[in-house]
Amino acid sequence: MFQHMCNGEKDFCNLFDGKWVEASSSKFLTILSPVDGSLVGRVPAMSREDVDRAIQNTKDSLPVWANTPIHERASVFYRAADLLEQHADEIAAVLTMEIAKDKKSAWFEVQRTADFFRYTADAGKSMAGEAISGDNFPGGSKNKVSYVSRVPLGTVLAISPFNYPINLSASKIAPALIGGNAVLLKPASQGAISALYLADILQEAGLPKGVLNTITGRGSEIGDYIVTHPGVNFINFTGSTAVGRRIAKEAGMVPLMLELGGKDAAIVLADADLDFAAQTIISGAYAYAGQRCTAVKRILATDSVADQLIPRLLEGIGKLKVGDPRENATIVPLINTQAADFVMGLIEDAAAKGAMVLTGGTREGDLITPTLVDQVTTEMRLAWEEPFGPVLPILRVKDIDEAIDIANRSEYGLQSSVFTKDIHDAFYIANRLEVGTVQINNKTERGPDHFPFLGVKASGMGTQGVKYAIEAMTRPKAIVFNLLESKPV
Ligand code: NAP
Ligand code: G3H
Repeated sequence: MFQHMCNGEKDFCNLFDGKWVEASSSKFLTILSPVDGSLVGRVPAMSREDVDRAIQNTKDSLPVWANTPIHERASVFYRAADLLEQHADEIAAVLTMEIAKDKKSAWFEVQRTADFFRYTADAGKSMAGEAISGDNFPGGSKNKVSYVSRVPLGTVLAISPFNYPINLSASKIAPALIGGNAVLLKPASQGAISALYLADILQEAGLPKGVLNTITGRGSEIGDYIVTHPGVNFINFTGSTAVGRRIAKEAGMVPLMLELGGKDAAIVLADADLDFAAQTIISGAYAYAGQRCTAVKRILATDSVADQLIPRLLEGIGKLKVGDPRENATIVPLINTQAADFVMGLIEDAAAKGAMVLTGGTREGDLITPTLVDQVTTEMRLAWEEPFGPVLPILRVKDIDEAIDIANRSEYGLQSSVFTKDIHDAFYIANRLEVGTVQINNKTERGPDHFPFLGVKASGMGTQGVKYAIEAMTRPKAIVFNLLESKPV
């Protein structure tokens, strides 16, 4: 069913005006698999002129789509959800080879996206405006009524990261489109092929031509040009804090949603169920080799809790499957060599400054063994920097207040976990943590996808989650009726 091939088996095209096109330069980027170095495919290296055409085309397509009844827009997403499910195995296999995500998680990413499409379609159909009477405000009158509806912003630029190329593209595209916007998708280069499958599904589901266009090409080459393009009305970006900061500087007055990096802490108290905490933290820290913005990226615990937690953690880490994502390994090769070098640099810095590497810390190519590091102090980079890899530091604290203080000294503020049976301690800590979300007795995680999901400080701005994302990518439009004074009957 998929139409997105250009020439030959391995050359992919971009979606433009309902057709699949090459770059005007005919240049391609080569996408190799982090699993075994094999060729996954080639995607067009689009030029500035291609960007101009793609954005203009979204503008041309916008009026028809914006005026399409919401229930008709919604029907595209129900069909797309069905198609995703029908092709889940095929798309998951592409994900596995392109970004080295284990088979099971890749399949779940596709299913999660189908669910996201259906929920977004339902939410779109439930969108309601409001009518506000003037007399609610002092001096106002019942003869003045504001009719408020939500209207699209225009062209939304969606930029997605490598680690969820399907789901984090869809979680931008669907709320934008259901709100009546047109979208230009710029996926991560490593992840672009998976994202093109998603675009193909939407096209096949009946999205009118030009309402969704895609642009592949290196962010370092075309990124600045796209984010400063005068035709872009909203930028919805997920990725690193460094690139997010750059976009915020470059984009000027264009409204932004930024979902960026994190350093999520798990604070474990003495009364917690430590078996449960260890098991949950392991899955939070090491799933997809730690390449999740919401991965547990540090443990904060007192000496006695840390001493009891460590044997449990070591036992669980010892059972993690390391190796090939096609065989459902949890610990897989990192996305590229630069990422693996960075993670090893953090481990080596901590070890050199006196931390104890309790397990892991070794590397074969870009595969890093699951690593647990104890006695990490605030002088070490590992205490503060986001590894995006399978390494978990333990910072020993004297009490709850020191745990909160260290958690909050991070530049990041995505999520944190608190493990305790005491509801009072849970609220005491949760109320003081400077993050978007606190998870009580769970790992840090984004879903379910209708919950608000946001980062504060260097972790982002704006809120995702179906309803919140639709609101962010639409604006209120007020029409005020000034009724003529009528005589009382
Ligand atoms: P990244 O390097 O920042 O890339 C993200 C996207 O930005 C890619 O599409 C990339 O394209 C593009 N890009 C690069 N330079 C650009 C520029 N100057 N202008 C515009 N776009 C540009 O991040 P990543 O390595 O893909 O993802 C890992 C990071 O994302 C981690 O820090 C993680 O915490 C964060 N993340 C956050 C969330 C969240 O919701 N908070 C979710 C997932 C990931 P190229 O691939 O072509 O360079
Ligand atoms: O990588 C960032 C994602 O938004 C995390 O989503 O918590 O479902 O893995 P997740």
